[in-house]
Order: sequence, then structure tokens, then C-alpha cells
Amino acid sequence: VNETGLDGWLRYAALPDEFASLRPQYSAIISLTDSQSSPIFTAARELQLGLSKILSQNISLETKDGYCLVCKNGRAAEIIGQNDRGALYGAFEFLRLLSQNQPLPEMRISNPSAPIRWVNQWDNLDGTIERGYAGPSIFFADGHVLDDLTRVQQYARLLASVGLNGLIVNNVNSNYNLLNPFNMQGLARIADIMRPWGVRIGISLYFDTPKELGGLQTSDPLDRNVIAWWEDITSELYRHVPDMLGYLIKANSEGQPGPLTYGRTLADGANMFARALQPHGDGVVMYRAFVYNHHLDESNWKNDRANAAVEYFDGLDTQFEDNVIIQIKYGPIDFQIREPPSPLLAHLRKTPIILELQVTQEYLGQQDHIVYLPPLWKTIFDFDLHVDGQKSLVRDVVSGQRFNWSRSGYAAVVNVGNDPTWLGSHLAMANLYAYGLCAWDPQQSEVDIIQGWAQLTFGLNKAVVDTITNISMASWPTYENYSGNLGIQTLCDIVTHCHYGPSPAAQDGNGWGQWTRADARSIGMDRTVATGTGNSGQYPQKVADRFECIDTTPDELLLWFHHVPYTHRLKSGKTVIQHFYDAHYAGALVAQTFAQQWEILRGLIDDNRFDHMAFRLQYQAGHALVWRDSVNNFYYAKCGIRDELNRVGNH
Ligand code: GCU
Repeated sequence: VNETGLDGWLRYAALPDEFASLRPQYSAIISLTDSQSSPIFTAARELQLGLSKILSQNISLETKDGYCLVCKNGRAAEIIGQNDRGALYGAFEFLRLLSQNQPLPEMRISNPSAPIRWVNQWDNLDGTIERGYAGPSIFFADGHVLDDLTRVQQYARLLASVGLNGLIVNNVNSNYNLLNPFNMQGLARIADIMRPWGVRIGISLYFDTPKELGGLQTSDPLDRNVIAWWEDITSELYRHVPDMLGYLIKANSEGQPGPLTYGRTLADGANMFARALQPHGDGVVMYRAFVYNHHLDESNWKNDRANAAVEYFDGLDTQFEDNVIIQIKYGPIDFQIREPPSPLLAHLRKTPIILELQVTQEYLGQQDHIVYLPPLWKTIFDFDLHVDGQKSLVRDVVSGQRFNWSRSGYAAVVNVGNDPTWLGSHLAMANLYAYGLCAWDPQQSEVDIIQGWAQLTFGLNKAVVDTITNISMASWPTYENYSGNLGIQTLCDIVTHCHYGPSPAAQDGNGWGQWTRADARSIGMDRTVATGTGNSGQYPQKVADRFECIDTTPDELLLWFHHVPYTHRLKSGKTVIQHFYDAHYAGALVAQTFAQQWEILRGLIDDNRFDHMAFRLQYQAGHALVWRDSVNNFYYAKCGIRDELNRVGNH
């Protein structure tokens, strides 16, 4: 009760129960804008306050990006957004339907699956891009933000057209010089350019910035001076970017400093940033779960990098501030060709999550090979984690529905560069388009998505659309066939860190923990509880039981969870080694057909884009043969078991 008088007549005194109980129970307040300086947002906040006091109803305040299209015959089309961004998304949807020559809907309401639909750039201040395969950065050069941000504006338009509403502008391996005064002005310019497209920006931080840039003795997250230093920097950032999304933090990972460096918990570290953000609006800390020891001892069969996320984060669920979100890569290792979902997805109930995907094809051919990603993503989205014995599809956890989170969703690493193709390959752009559509609705058919993208990108000719659809839909299984089977991971070069090209020997004999444990007799990681690393036991019971046992583990994840002889028979009836040989031949063969199929499109699309892709697909055809022979010969040399069809080792 406000008896000070400051509230004047706006006391919102509680209605007596007999009156209040006759009023409806409201479920949510939807603000038609999330701009905090708008009177509409003020109205929503005032309603929230008033309803809590007058009716004792604590109601969440939400802004929704959905839209409604009404296109009744002969009448003007109406595009109605639930907020400013919703109107923009509705306009893009209207234009998409026109371009695809589809009927306009009499009435269509569309809402995103999750509020967070962001991209992560891995751009460095010097203009290079970590895992970027399409030229230098469109954001930075020579230590500062570029003067000419034309490409950034064009990028924001692309992101908005598929419903993406946020972007983290710099690499997770962050450089503290981003926070110098000159660069803060640059960040303001980036934010200003992206804002009209409904794309808000956030930044990645380097944990030791107080020491390195601020000249403090320490970066200990519980140190008073460190806390004050981050508070000041945060205020300064908000002066430049008033609607900043918040901070992405990679800490205690791959040699980066973090709270553990100072004997503090991961929650201590995350909460320090969270509290610095709180006075300024709705900013969040995206704290990455990619924390692991990259000097693991392979001689210990209990060691397992796949266990790290749960080991580090278990027990912390209730300890994070409300504006901390844990960002989790889809699999327990690192963007491999096939992984089960990260077990950490089943461990957090109170703390919301962001699911981290990669549009950048880091381990997947780096845009030199075509790999259309939605079929891979679907294996994660549709996976039932059975948390607490209840249906718990990953997509329902991520949307916030399963555990009642109001802020959760998706992030994808998207390393566009200043190449005119953006990602280095025209067909690779289907993955960026698809990412936006999947984050909006993870249940959309991957075939519909690629067909729609092909129409928008190359026109309505059926031969063109069918060819692109066929190549794309075959591309992921094809790449898996020649780059890493049965859950063994992508067998690319990890020793030189290029993550490209075949190098099955590189997986083992180092501390990175992407091991295959291949010897003369047997192969695979024993991740069982009974005899292995115990990783299967990190999943809820029903899932754990399935992965613990060889018979119930699907063939495609067999070597992820089990160490077996090369002569072990799969459910298909083949031995593991014969499957390897056959899959590599099958995959390389299909890769040869991509270039041939593309040839049909000569003259049906412009020469420029035709030639560009023809060259790439021919390259892929050749490189697939290199993959096939390198991997097959490697395992043949290891185990000496002949190929039943006598192909391997006969060159
Ligand atoms: C992978 C990738 C690195 C990146 C890291 C991360 O290991 O190869 O370049 O920094 O993931 O996601 O933090």
C-alpha cells in the first residue's frame, strides 16, 4: 500500500476478494512494441503493475513477433503485426507468396515458435572471420568497425525476411578492444543500421577485459572493482546501443579465462554480467555451455569430452539470475555430421536455454560441399528427451513450452563475408533461409523450405526447383556417407584445426576428445554406464536405457555410444567395416551425380550463378573421391579386413 502520497490517485488498491474474484484471470499482457520508449510499452507495464495490485494477478508481459495476413477477394490486403517486427514479417510473407505465385490467404495468423531467433557472427576486429569461408568481415577491419556498412544493411534485410530478430556481432573468442570508445561508436552505427529491420545487436565479451583493458589487478567476478568496472562499461554501451540484446560469454573454454580461473563458479561469472545488465532493460547473458578441458588424457577410458557440459552445469540450475540463458550447442561435441542432442538440454528446468546451431558448414565441407542442413537439425528438434518421464521434444524445450520459459530459442553461427554470395556458395544460402524458417516453426517440412527457397532464388521453373530440391535433399546423407559413418563424427583434420578434408588418423592421440578409439580390432567410444564413460547415463532414464544397450542404439549412432569390433553386425546385417566401405562408395557416387544434375540447368538460370555452382559441384565430386579413398584405405590398413567387393586397397 502506498501511503506516502507519491502515487497520487494511482494507488491501485486491492479490490476486496468478493469483487476481484468475479474478474477474469488474465494470462498475458501483449505489448504491441518492445521499444521501451514507446507509450505502448509503458501501457503494458502499467497494466502489469495495476493488475498485480488491484487483482493480485501476476501476469507476464510479452511482446510477440507474430502477424496476421487478411487477403479477402477484391479487398485491400491487410498486414497486421502483433508488434512492429510482426508487421515487417507479415510484409515479407506477403511478398514471398506473391513471388512464389501462391494464392493469398483469406486469413493467416502466424506466430514464431520462440522469442529468441538470433545469429552469431564470428567476426574478428581485424576483419578476419573465424570459420568464415566467404571473404573478410562486413562489420570490421583493422581493429575497428567499418565506415561503410552497406553490406550490414543488406544483411539485416535478409535476416528480417526470415524472421530473425537479433545478432551477436563479434566472435565468441572476443577481443577486448571492441569496448574502446571508438568502437562503441561503431557498435552504435551497426545497431542503428539494423534497427529498422527489427534486428537488435548484442556483443561477445572477453572475460579478462577488466585486467587487460581496464588495468585492474584481477577479473574476479566477485571483486568489487571488477563488478563496478563492468557496470560502468555496460552503462556506456547502453548509451550507444539503448536496445542492446546483452552479452554472449565464452569462458573457461579452449584456453579462455573465466570464473573458474578465479576459483569462482560459472554461475558467479554469469551473474556478474547479468546484474550489470539488469538496470538497463531486458538484456540477457547468453552463457555458453561449451566449457570443456581440451587437454584430456586419452589413455583413461573414463574421460569423455561429451560429459563436460553436464558435469560443469549440473547443480547450477537454480543459481543463475533471471536474465541468464545457457547457450548449448546441439550436440555434446562440436557441430559434427551426426550427434545425439546434448544431454544438458535435459538438465535445466529453471534456467532457459538457447540452442546453438551452425549455418556455417565448419565440419561439413565449409561451403565447398553442399550440405543442406534442416534434415540434420530435425534429428535434434524432433528428439524426445523424456525428461521426468514426460514427452519432451527438444523443440518444445527450446520454445520454452516444456518448462514455461518466457525467453528462450535459437542461435546459429552464420559467418557471412563480403563475397557477393554471402556464404561463399549460392546453394549454401538455403541454410540461412532455412534457419530463419526453422526457428520460426521447427515443424516446417524441409522439402517445402528448399522448394520455396529455390523459387525465390532461381525462379519458378519446375526443372530448376526440382533439381535443387533433389540435390539438397540428398546432400546431408551423401556427405555423411563419405565423411563419417555410424556416429564416428566427421573424420576431418582436427590436428591442424582446419576442420576440413579427410584425416581419420587426426581424431585420436590428442587432448581434444573427439576420439574414435580405432585400433586393429575395434572402433568407437564406449559411452555406456556399465563399461564406458557413463555418458549415456546423463540422459533421462528412457533415453539412457536406449543408448546404454547396443541392440537399442540406432545404427547411425552406434559408434558414438559403443566400442565394437569391425566385424560387429549392424541391424542392416552388414559388418561395421563393410558398412564403412560401402557407404564411402555410395556417398562418393551420389556426389558425382550432383554436377551432372546441375548441368540440366544450363540456360535455365543465369550463367553467372550456373557457372559458380557448376565449378563447386565438380570440385565436390573430386573431393568426395579423395574422402572415400582416404577413409577406406585408412581403416583397411588398420584392420586388414578385405572389402567384400574387392574395391578397397586395390588402387
Ligand atoms: C569450435 C570451432 C572454434 C570455435 C569453437 C566455439 O571448436 O572450431 O573455432 O571457437 O567451436 O564454438 O567456441
